[in-house]
Amino acid sequence: MLGLIHVAYIISALLFILSLAGLSKQETAKLGCTSGIIGMTIALLATFVGVETVVGWAIIVIAMVIGAAIGLYLAKKVEMTQMPELVAMLHSFVGLAAVLVGFNSFLELVGNDATSTLTVSADASLAQVAELLAQAKQSVSEHADKLSSKELAIHLVEVFLGVFIGAVTFTGSVVAYGKLNGSFKLTIFKSKPLVLPFRHGLNILALVVSFILMIVFMCTATSNSSVALVSLVVMTVIALLFGIHLVASIGGADMPVVISMLNSYSGWAAAAAGFMLNNDLLIVTGSLVGSSGAILSYIMCKAMNRSFLSVILGGLGNKAAAADEEEHGEHKELSYGDVADLLKNANSVVITPGYGMAVAQAQYPVATLTEKLRAKGINVRFGIHPVAGRLPGHMNVLLAEAKVPYDIVLEMDEINDDFADTDVVLVIGANDTVNPAALENPNSPIAGMPVLEVWNAKNVVIFKRSMSVGYAGVQNPLFFKENSYMCFGDAKQSVEEIVKLI
Ligand code: TAP
Repeated sequence: MLGLIHVAYIISALLFILSLAGLSKQETAKLGCTSGIIGMTIALLATFVGVETVVGWAIIVIAMVIGAAIGLYLAKKVEMTQMPELVAMLHSFVGLAAVLVGFNSFLELVGNDATSTLTVSADASLAQVAELLAQAKQSVSEHADKLSSKELAIHLVEVFLGVFIGAVTFTGSVVAYGKLNGSFKLTIFKSKPLVLPFRHGLNILALVVSFILMIVFMCTATSNSSVALVSLVVMTVIALLFGIHLVASIGGADMPVVISMLNSYSGWAAAAAGFMLNNDLLIVTGSLVGSSGAILSYIMCKAMNRSFLSVILGGLGNKAAAADEEEHGEHKELSYGDVADLLKNANSVVITPGYGMAVAQAQYPVATLTEKLRAKGINVRFGIHPVAGRLPGHMNVLLAEAKVPYDIVLEMDEINDDFADTDVVLVIGANDTVNPAALENPNSPIAGMPVLEVWNAKNVVIFKRSMSVGYAGVQNPLFFKENSYMCFGDAKQSVEEIVKLI
């Protein structure tokens, strides 16, 4: 049976790798999802079969029914715009699970082994009691042997690091959830970074104290398990606070990297749990999630011209988003009729969508508009910023959902040079990703972040509801440029009206 379970685990691991490969391209994404689902089903079945006790099966079934019910409810209820929050919350569960597995592993190691075999039923004969006592004695001596082995030292490191990573992931993800949700009043949940005095010193102190506690834990686990337990508990509290501080001190435009970093941390937490539970599949899956999350974070940092290290160390070198009180001048407005005329007379149009398109669910009228303009022989393309929206690939998913052909959806780097030859750019609910201050104002909190250089086009029409700021909380000088026009209103409604006029 054990052999079969291992084969099932290997097949699942391969399917997870195929799933990641499939998800890397739009054309193969569905296949990627299917591989993942099959892999997970095999993994669950193998886990189920491997339990071998009725109580174990009952617990798994109850947990799966509750989990599946919550999952189905959330899948139906959660809007696309709330996905990043949901993902952050799910990461926090992985972190919490790693903490609980770590504590359980440690307590089992120092406690249960020696005592569990002493349970004797009331009608046991003397011979049976003697046999059980002998078994218990042997268990205690085996336990002592185990305690002196190298394997035990490795296991203790796994427990300590697993609990540490899990605790950081847990509170970090809860803070990320709050920041993305945006409706909590607490300062740590604000989009603006929390800037405590000596914040980097505090982070280093937390790491140094945790390291010292690890040494205490390792040295006392066999001789004085209560001291070891206290050091594990104190480290957990420090790691929980560290997780809060690490994410609270990152804000604005750096949040996308935090989400993918937490994704990575949750993978490493799962891998640590896999080591503690001696479960190969959990180790493989955790490592896949951990490394793919780290690679994605690195790619996003490069796309945003941010130093990877500075983001993961809690916004090292972050400029606090200062209130933007600069005078920007007057903005101009266009009616739906004016925008329709502008489009009808254009040869080339680029649409740059952002978070507002997701909020308004404007992708469907945008797809219809695209179809109509292309039918008139106008060259319509999309320019997608790597962090547009609230999760990686957010805009691509929405446009694919509305059946916009993949070949006209271009990345920022592919389209940026073409704006100079573009007649009209439609900025649909985007703000930070088209903000020229990122390139022109070195004091801006988003300074250095590459953006879609839409202002180089002949005309730019910005669809949004007001003059308010985007996620990073900075005003956008694009709105006041000579060739920029605002088209106020809900993006879906505005685009629908323009479609009617074309
Ligand atoms: P944002 O800068 O967030 O701006 C979105 C704009 O959409 C807002 O200014 C808002 O203006 C407008 N809007 C909202 N609802 C609308 C509606 N119903 N109709 C029309 N407009 C609407 O968007 P962006 O350009 O996509 O930039 C993304 C930002 O989020 C970046 O700062 C990025 O770092 C951050 N972020 C990204 C991610 C990922 S992974 N993509 C994750 C977390 C954070 P009004 O209120 O005036 O309408």
